[in-house]
Amino acid sequence: MEIKDYVAKLSAAFALGSADLSAIAIAFKKALQEGLAGKPSPLRMLPSFIADPTGKEAGEVLAVDFGGTNVRIIKVALDGKGGSRIENILKFPLKAADGSYDHVSAKAQGDELFDYIAAKIGEIAPSGTMAPLGHTFSFPCEQKSLNSAFLIHWTKEIRTKGVEGKDVTELLKAALARKGVNNAKPVAVINDTVGTLLTAAYSDSDADIASICGTGHNTCYLEPRHPLSGKPMIVNMESGNFDAVPQTQVDAELDAASEMPGRQKLEKMVSGYYLGEIVRLSLRRMRDEGILPACPALEERHIVRGMDIDSILIDSVDLKSTRAFASERLGLATLEMSQLTAIKTINDAIALRSARLVAATYAGTLMLIDPELKRRHSIAIDGTLYEKMPGYGANISMALCEIFGDKAKQVKTVLAKDGSGIGAAIAAAVAARASP
Ligand code: GLC
Repeated sequence: MEIKDYVAKLSAAFALGSADLSAIAIAFKKALQEGLAGKPSPLRMLPSFIADPTGKEAGEVLAVDFGGTNVRIIKVALDGKGGSRIENILKFPLKAADGSYDHVSAKAQGDELFDYIAAKIGEIAPSGTMAPLGHTFSFPCEQKSLNSAFLIHWTKEIRTKGVEGKDVTELLKAALARKGVNNAKPVAVINDTVGTLLTAAYSDSDADIASICGTGHNTCYLEPRHPLSGKPMIVNMESGNFDAVPQTQVDAELDAASEMPGRQKLEKMVSGYYLGEIVRLSLRRMRDEGILPACPALEERHIVRGMDIDSILIDSVDLKSTRAFASERLGLATLEMSQLTAIKTINDAIALRSARLVAATYAGTLMLIDPELKRRHSIAIDGTLYEKMPGYGANISMALCEIFGDKAKQVKTVLAKDGSGIGAAIAAAVAARASP
């Protein structure tokens, strides 16, 4: 097959037209309704036991943001008027670059992992007082109350033993006790999407959906009448597990080789952890078809990084960045323009699909909470894709316009930078207000 025809075929497999988007949005809304009603659904619809903050929460609080292999601990001052200030921040990896420790592999134990985090909390906790601590734990958890969350299973390829099935608040409390840290009191545990919504809603009353478009992907929304309480409550959809999505052969290949085949299908098509892998596997197919020359680098997992995708996306007609990527990352220094065009076409199609799929799930959520789009809605988004990937936000907006037409003007997406961490602080302040 001609290079041009092959590439057209492969990129068409990643393309989603307006009708596809609407169909996905409608399927998403159905899954939402079923999940909320407790029926089988790919959407877990996990209750968070928290609704909107009042904006009046105030004081100095600690937040632990644990959402992947990097953890952040922050000391935040909330001013009681919708504003927050980060006073201190400590960032650290759970897996050392030099291999000296690894708390996230299948050989690691939960107690060691939490001891490591507890000792770091000790470094930043204010001395002489007991600071309320909010914990953003960004994995699917069965929540029993605002301060109790049982990990259902790890996602994002973390494999530490002895955490699944346990209450992560209890694990953290026990670790703080073992490490002698007695000036931080865990009072709230939330998902990062929930933290992002709390942060946005602290100062924007239109914010009722929040999403992470980063290493992982997930969305939450404010359910106006939650079946458990009949009152408003934020629901963590765990939408990364949505599965009514058109998978390509490349997606199926990636899924089969992942830690949890069959799970997190949407996340594996859209999130930062996997996008580079989708590009790599697509290029590998092109190599197997003879469109690209022999290339051992394409066997190496994660050889294609987020920053490579970004630089190819904004490449100019001379394809200089794509050429640099092929030469430096893949060791292919002598490609022809048609081959470089093929790489860019596939790369761009994969990035575009991510934004459009995500937008379709936002549309499905809006169809549930405000079918006529009578009100204004802010969708708060955090994560590197939304923040840094060229065109990502614009592509989401475009897809929303295709689905809703003129009414899409009621919907805006906003960056909620560091929302997940600050949100944990807000949740801690909400909890501290409820039971000082
Ligand atoms: C994964 C987790 C989810 C989290 C998301 C973004 O999908 O399962 O809980 O919100 O990543 O970090």
